[in-house]
Amino acid sequence: METTKTAKILTIVGARPNFMKAAPILAAIRNQNERQALQADPASAGKSRFTLQNVLVHTGQHYDEAMSDRFFADLNIPKPDVHLGVGSGSHAAQTAEIMKRFEEVLLRERPDLLIVVGDVNSTLGCALVAAKISFDAKGTRPLIAHVEAGLRSFDRDMPEEINRILTDHVADLLFVTEESGLRNLRQEGVPDAKVHFVGNTMIDSLLAFKEQANGSNILDRLSLRSRNRGNGSANGTNRYALLTLHRPSNVDEPATFLNILKGLEELSGSCPVIFPAHPRTQKRIAEFGFNQFFSAKDGIQGKEQSSSAGANGSIRMIDPLGYLDFLCLMSHATIVITDSGGIQEETTCLGVPCVTVRENTERPITVKVGTNVLAGTSQEGIRQATRQQLESRVTGAVPERWDGKSAQRILEVICHALEEKAAKVVPIAG
Ligand code: UD1
Repeated sequence: METTKTAKILTIVGARPNFMKAAPILAAIRNQNERQALQADPASAGKSRFTLQNVLVHTGQHYDEAMSDRFFADLNIPKPDVHLGVGSGSHAAQTAEIMKRFEEVLLRERPDLLIVVGDVNSTLGCALVAAKISFDAKGTRPLIAHVEAGLRSFDRDMPEEINRILTDHVADLLFVTEESGLRNLRQEGVPDAKVHFVGNTMIDSLLAFKEQANGSNILDRLSLRSRNRGNGSANGTNRYALLTLHRPSNVDEPATFLNILKGLEELSGSCPVIFPAHPRTQKRIAEFGFNQFFSAKDGIQGKEQSSSAGANGSIRMIDPLGYLDFLCLMSHATIVITDSGGIQEETTCLGVPCVTVRENTERPITVKVGTNVLAGTSQEGIRQATRQQLESRVTGAVPERWDGKSAQRILEVICHALEEKAAKVVPIAG
């Protein structure tokens, strides 16, 4: 008879884009444990002998209510077991602080496996600690699993590109979201046996929460509901654009930021542009004196004047939104303009036209089969790409394995790897 063992997994989250990628994995672990406790799922019989103890670690890279806590509530993520409280800093200071504080946790918890997601400083910092840790004289360390491996923009000026490459090269299990990731890893000499094409856990979250997000009242709070249902889009929503900008290369340099804002003037003259602005971006707007491009920042929640919605043709800046409100706003938007990585994927899945204000993308599938176009950061480039997306009837397909089952695939691979690891550490008699 098989005995059930316990394996300890430590999962890292740190910054906003991590939360929606980790949530489905945490849910899959919970579900597997519940099924195992009940022993009621014949489908899982014989598949895994592990009860998984999960320790959730939040590095605190993002710490505002709007950048962190609200996502835990929206995505049903349990309270972190450990909070490192790292906060902001330069790349070196932030990464070093994450590493120092995480090393103590790793030595105390001694997990069998570490899960890191995405490409933020927390991802690399924690992976690097785990790659060099030693729990005993034999050099025992946890397996390192990287979710969203293999993406490459081939632009090493992006801090995320450095984080991706280095994390992939210390990882033992690499979970890939799209075919380009398989090619990139092969080209870099990562053995195929470590690489698993599982799809996209961020899309697992989108599919799981889409209906709930539709119940958000954000469209009413922003006065975006069409009074005249026949004249708006099919769902009684006014035409509006949704804008996000936060990349240091776009917002930290005044000339580039100004070009982008000028490139958006034609759009903001034709429909309301809703702009939930990242704290970094809000700071830069104040610092560079770019306020003239925006209608007065409103805190929404009933404070906005409905007449201000696009009436003066300027960009309507609001505070960052939670997951469900943002998903609702994205689903109903006529067009999305962004420099985010994840939003290129989410709009592809939703079939919403997307203009990416960057010269490159690490997510080429969104351009190849999805609804995304790259505009660059010149005024004319942004104007042209926006026109093109509004004029053509954009249709896209959903990429392979973006089907809501990615976390489950990941868990199956993880359990298999844990079994192999256990077999090596404690040889099974006979
Ligand atoms: C980080 C990620 C980026 C991701 C983005 C999503 C890295 C290298 N970058 O960039 O890939 O797309 O998160 O938001 O990890 N701030 C606050 N409150 C917060 C968090 C940040 O005010 O809760 C402000 C601080 O002034 C901070 C600045 O935003 O200095 C930048 O934060 P940081 O975590 O360093 O990088 P992001 O630009 O958010």
